[in-house]
Amino acid sequence: MKISVIGAGYVGLSSSLCLAEMGHEVIQIDIDLQKVDAINSGRSPLVEPGFDDMFCRHSGHRLKATADYDSISSTEVCIICVNTPSSQKGEPDLSRIESACRSIGYNLRNSHGFHLLVVKSTVPPGTTQCLIRPTVLETCGDNPNIGFAVNPEFLREGQALKDFMNPDRIVIGCWDPKAADMLVKVYNGIKSPIIRTDPMTAEMIKYASNAFLATKISFSNEIGNICKILGLDVYEVMRGVGLDHRISPYALDAGIGFGGSCLPKDLRSLIYLAENLGENPRLLKSVEEVNNLQSDMIIKLLEKRIGDLKEKRIAILGIAFKGGTDEVRDSRAIPVIKELLRRNATIASYDPLALNNMKIFIGNIDQLEYCSSAAEALQDADACLVLADCPIFADLDGEFDLMRSKIIIEGRRILEFSEKEGIYW
Ligand code: UGA
Repeated sequence: MKISVIGAGYVGLSSSLCLAEMGHEVIQIDIDLQKVDAINSGRSPLVEPGFDDMFCRHSGHRLKATADYDSISSTEVCIICVNTPSSQKGEPDLSRIESACRSIGYNLRNSHGFHLLVVKSTVPPGTTQCLIRPTVLETCGDNPNIGFAVNPEFLREGQALKDFMNPDRIVIGCWDPKAADMLVKVYNGIKSPIIRTDPMTAEMIKYASNAFLATKISFSNEIGNICKILGLDVYEVMRGVGLDHRISPYALDAGIGFGGSCLPKDLRSLIYLAENLGENPRLLKSVEEVNNLQSDMIIKLLEKRIGDLKEKRIAILGIAFKGGTDEVRDSRAIPVIKELLRRNATIASYDPLALNNMKIFIGNIDQLEYCSSAAEALQDADACLVLADCPIFADLDGEFDLMRSKIIIEGRRILEFSEKEGIYW
C-alpha cells in the first residue's frame, strides 16, 4: 500500500521504517528539513537501535521523505504521528495536530479514491471526534471519501522496531468498518490480537495503559521505601511478585522513577482530564507524587553518606531518561541536577548518548561539567549517583578507584561493581 506518515519522531520514524520493511511504499513527511535530508540520504535523524541499518536499506527505495504535504493525495493511508506535548498542569497542546489536520484536509480536497486517516499520536479521549475529524472535513470541503481510525502505538524508545513488529495487541478505533478493514490490511503479516473498538475508547486505551505502567513503577518504588527501612532488596521482592502472571514482571523495577516524553506527560494529561470532568483521581495523583519524591530520596541518601553537599564534587552517570537512548525530556536526572546545583555542589556528568541533548536543555553552567567518559566524571568525585541504566555502566570497575571517596548510590540497578548502595536496595 502507499502510506504517508506525518511527523518524524520516534513513533513516526519507527512506523515508517517498519511499514517499509513490511513491503509498503512510505512517504515520511516532516516540516524539519534537516530530518528530511537525513532520511533521504540514508541517515537516521534519531538515536535508536536498528534505525541506521533500516534507513540504509529503505531510504530512496520504499521510504522517501519530504516537507511537502502535497504527496498525501498520492497515498491511500495517512498516519498522523506528530507530538502532543502538555503543560506542567497536564493541559495538552493540540496545536501541532490541528495544523497537520488542516494541511492534510487541504491536500485531500480533490482526491477521489477512499483515503484512510490514522491517528497514532497520543490524544485525549474525544480528540478525533471533536477536533481531528471536523478540522480535516472542514478543510477538505467535506470530501465523503475519507475514513478515520485511532490506532495508538505502544512501542518503547530503545526497542521501538522490535515493539512495532511484535505488538501485544493492535488497537483499531473506527466508526466505519471499511476504515477498520483497511487498517487491518496495513498490518497484514504482523501476528497479534486485534481489538476493534470506537475511536474514543481507543484513545482512552492508550492513556490508561501508560497510566497503569506508571502506577506499577510508583507501586514498586513505594514498596522499595519500605524494603529499604527493613533492609530488604526490593528487586528480589518484586521478582517474586512479578512472576504472578496476573501481574507480569514488566514495569516493576524500582529506582529513581519514570521519565521520558510519554509516561509523565500522559499521566499528567489524564489527571487534568479527570479533574476537568469533576473527578478527583486520587490514585493517579499519588502515582505522580511518589514519582516526584524519588529525586529527593536519592539526595537525602547522598546527604546521609557525605553530609553537607556544598562544594562537593558529585559524579552523575546517566542523564538520559533511561539507558540506550539520548532522550532527556522529563529525565529524572533533571530534578537531581537542579537540587545539587541549588545546594552548591559541583557536578561532573557523563552519559554515552545524551550529553548533547542535556547541554541544549540545561545549557552551560559553571558548576556542571559534561565529561567525555565515566572515568573523567569519577576522577576525584566525593560521591557518584547512577541515574540511568546505560548498559556500558555494567562493565565499570577500576574507574571507581579514581574517586576521592568511593560512595556510589544507584538510582537504577545496573552496576556489577559490588561496593555500592541502591536507592532501594
Ligand atoms: C512508554 C511505554 O512503555 C510505551 O508502551 C508507550 O508506547 C510509550 O511510553 C509512549 O507512550 O509512546 P517509553 O517512555 O519509551 O515507553 O519507556 P519505558 O521503557 O516505559 O520507560 C519509561 C520510564 O519508566 C523510564 O524512565 C524508565 O527508566 C522507567 N521505568 C521503566 C522504571 O523506573 N521501572 C521499570 O520497571 C520500567
